[in-house]
Amino acid sequence: MSISLSKLNASEPTVAIIGAGVSGLSIGWRLAQAGAQVEIFERSDPGRGASWAAAGMLAARSEAEPGEETLLQLNLKSQKMWPSFKDEVEAAAHMPIDYRDEGTLTVALDQDDAEALLFNYKFQSKLGLEVEWLSGREARKRESFLSPNVTGAVYSSLDHQVENRLLVDALRIAFTAAGGMVHNYTEITAIEIKGDTVTGVRCGEKYREFDVVVLAAGAWSRTIKGLPKELMPPVRPLKGQMLALRMDLNEPLLRHVLWAPKGIYMVPRTDGRILIGATVEEKDFDADLTAGGVLHLLRESWEALPGIEELPIDEMWVGHRPTSRDDAPILGPTDLKGLVMATGHHRNGILLTPVTADAISRYIIDGIVPAEIAPFGLDRFQKKQSHNKTAENIEFQKGAA
Ligand code: FAD
Ligand code: GLY
Repeated sequence: MSISLSKLNASEPTVAIIGAGVSGLSIGWRLAQAGAQVEIFERSDPGRGASWAAAGMLAARSEAEPGEETLLQLNLKSQKMWPSFKDEVEAAAHMPIDYRDEGTLTVALDQDDAEALLFNYKFQSKLGLEVEWLSGREARKRESFLSPNVTGAVYSSLDHQVENRLLVDALRIAFTAAGGMVHNYTEITAIEIKGDTVTGVRCGEKYREFDVVVLAAGAWSRTIKGLPKELMPPVRPLKGQMLALRMDLNEPLLRHVLWAPKGIYMVPRTDGRILIGATVEEKDFDADLTAGGVLHLLRESWEALPGIEELPIDEMWVGHRPTSRDDAPILGPTDLKGLVMATGHHRNGILLTPVTADAISRYIIDGIVPAEIAPFGLDRFQKKQSHNKTAENIEFQKGAA
C-alpha cells in the first residue's frame, strides 16, 4: 500500500537531515514549520560548507546556458520565489540578509568577448528572458568605474544577490525558532538500512532511528557509508577560490553584480566588501589558495574594473561546490524508502534554496513529488529505472522494514 508520511505517523514524522548548509537548513525549517520533528546533523558549524564560500548571486538569466533549458525552468521558479522567501526568513530570524536588486551586468572587453556575449544575449532573448543589450557608454552610465575598454554589456535587471553568510545564520535561527534541533560537530558516519527501507543514522557508536533521512551533505554526499553503490549520488567537489576586497563605502566602486570575461564575477556587498570569484577546478577536496588562482581572479577583475587596484584585500577562501554528473541538482525520493536526496546544487545552490526547501518538504509531508523537481531525481543516473515515475504523482512508499 502506498501511504504518505503524514498518514503513517499522525502529525509528526521524524526526520534526520545530514548537513546544515542552505539545503539542509531550509528544508528543516519548512518541515519544522509544518510540525515535523526534525534534527539536523552537522559535522562542523552550521553553514560553513559551500553555503559560506558562495557569492550569493541569484542569477538564473545571466548564467543561462544552451543545453540546460530544463534546469533553467527550476532556476527561474526559485528566483521568482526569492523576494517572498527573503521576507519570510528575515521575519522569522529577526535579521536582514542583505538582498540586493540592482541587477547584473555582464561586460565584454574586446571583439571576441563581444561576439560571445552577443551569442548568449540572443540565446537568452530567444528564451524570453528579460535581458537588455547596452553599448559600452550605456554600461558606464550604470557603473562609472568600468574600464573604458568595455565595448558592450548585457543588463539583467531581475538577477539579484543575497548575502549568503547572513542567509545561513538566518536559516539556522528560523529553524530552531520553529522547533528544529541542530547537532553541531556531529558527523553522520553511516545511513542505516533494513531491507529496502532506511531506518536511521549512525554517528560513530551512536544509532538514532528516523522515519526519513534527507541527504543534504553537499560535496560530501558520497562520503557517508551505508548506501548501496547505485544509490550513492554522483556528486563530486568542484573547487572554487575566491577573495574579497574592501571598498570605500562613501565612494562605492560597484553597485551591480558584474561578470567580466573568462568567467570572473564581482559582487558588491552592503558592508563595503567586493567579492571576486571564482575559479572552477577539478581538484577533489584540495583546499589550497594558489598564486595562479588568485592571479586569475585579480587580473580578470582588474581588466573590467581597474579601480580595484587600490583596494585592500579583506579575505581569501576556498569552497567546494557539490557538482553532479550533469551539473543539475539531485532532488527527491530514491529506491530506498525513507531516503530523500537534496544535493548536487553545483553553482546555484543559493539561488535554488527556496524551491529546494519547498519541494522537498512538501514531498516529505504529502508523499507526492512536486512536478518541478520530477526531472531531477536520482533515477536519471540509474541504468535501469526500477519504478515508473510521473511528474505529478509519486507516492512515498513506506513499507514495513
Ligand atoms: P553545503 O553548504 O556544502 O552544506 C553541506 C553541509 O554538510 C556542510 O556544512 C558539511 O559540513 C555537512 N556535512 C558533510 N558531510 C557530513 C556528515 N557526514 N555529517 C554531518 N554533516 C556533514 N550558488 C549560488 O546560487 N550563487 C552563487 O553565487 C554561488 N557562488 C558560489 C561560489 C563558490 C566559490 C562556491 C564554492 C559555490 C557557489 N555557489 C553559488 C554554490 C552554492 O554555494 C552551493 O550549491 C550550495 O551552497 C550548496 O548548499 P548545500 O547545503 O547543499 O551544501
Ligand atoms: N555561481 C558562482 C560560482 O559557482 O562560482
